[in-house]
Amino acid sequence: VAQDTLIEERPNLEPSPDAEEVAEIVERGGAGITRKRMLATSAGAAGVALGAAFIVPAASLGPWVGDATVQSPWRRGRRLVDEQGTPVPASAVAMGGFVTAFAEGVDKEALGSSLIVVRIDPASVAVRRDWAPQGIMAYSKICTHAGCAVAMMRYPLFSGNAPGPALVCPCHYSTFDITHGARVVFGPAGRPLPQLPLQIDASGYLVADGPLSGDVGPSWTGVDRGSA
Ligand code: FES
Repeated sequence: VAQDTLIEERPNLEPSPDAEEVAEIVERGGAGITRKRMLATSAGAAGVALGAAFIVPAASLGPWVGDATVQSPWRRGRRLVDEQGTPVPASAVAMGGFVTAFAEGVDKEALGSSLIVVRIDPASVAVRRDWAPQGIMAYSKICTHAGCAVAMMRYPLFSGNAPGPALVCPCHYSTFDITHGARVVFGPAGRPLPQLPLQIDASGYLVADGPLSGDVGPSWTGVDRGSA
C-alpha cells in the first residue's frame, strides 16, 4: 500500500492585532459595574418608578387651573357671546346641537364664563321650563368631576328605549341628563352641571336671566355661581 505524507496549511494562531483592544474594552466594562454603582442605579430606577406612581394618578385629576378662583360673571341681563365676542342669537343653536358661549365682556379663560348651550324639543324639558326658552338651555361647560370641558352631546333621533338627550364629559364619561337640569346619570361626577337661566331678548339674542344654579366645576376651583 502506497503511503503519502500530506501537509495542510493552517491559519496563523498568533493573537490578532485587535485582540488586545477587545480585551481592554471587556476589562473596562467589567470594572464599570461596581457593586456600589449597581446599588445606586437600582435605587435611582426605583425612585423614578415611585415618582411616576404618584404623578400618573395626579394627572388623571384633570387640567391644572392655577389661580382661576373667581366669582362667576353671570347675572341677569348679561349676554352670551361666541368666541369672537359676537352675541349669540337663539337661531344659532340647532335642534339637537350645541354651541359654546361666554359671558359678554369677560375673559374667555375664566372658568365661570364658559357655557355649553343646547337645544332640545321643549316638550322634553322636565324641570326649570322657564329657564329654557324654545328648548334652549345653558350649562356650565366645566365638568363637576375634575374640571374638564364638557364637549359632547347625545341626542337620539329615535324614541323607544333609547337613552334621552345628555351632555357627556370626554375625560371620564360623566353623563348629564339635560332634560332634568343636567343631573348625573353616569360616571364619577358628584353633582349636576350648574344651569344658567336664559331669556331671548327683543332682538333674538340669548341673555342670562340670573346666576348659575350652582358653583362651577369641582369644589376646588372655588368659582361660585354668580349674583342675581
Ligand atoms: S372631568 Fe371626569 S368626568 Fe368630567
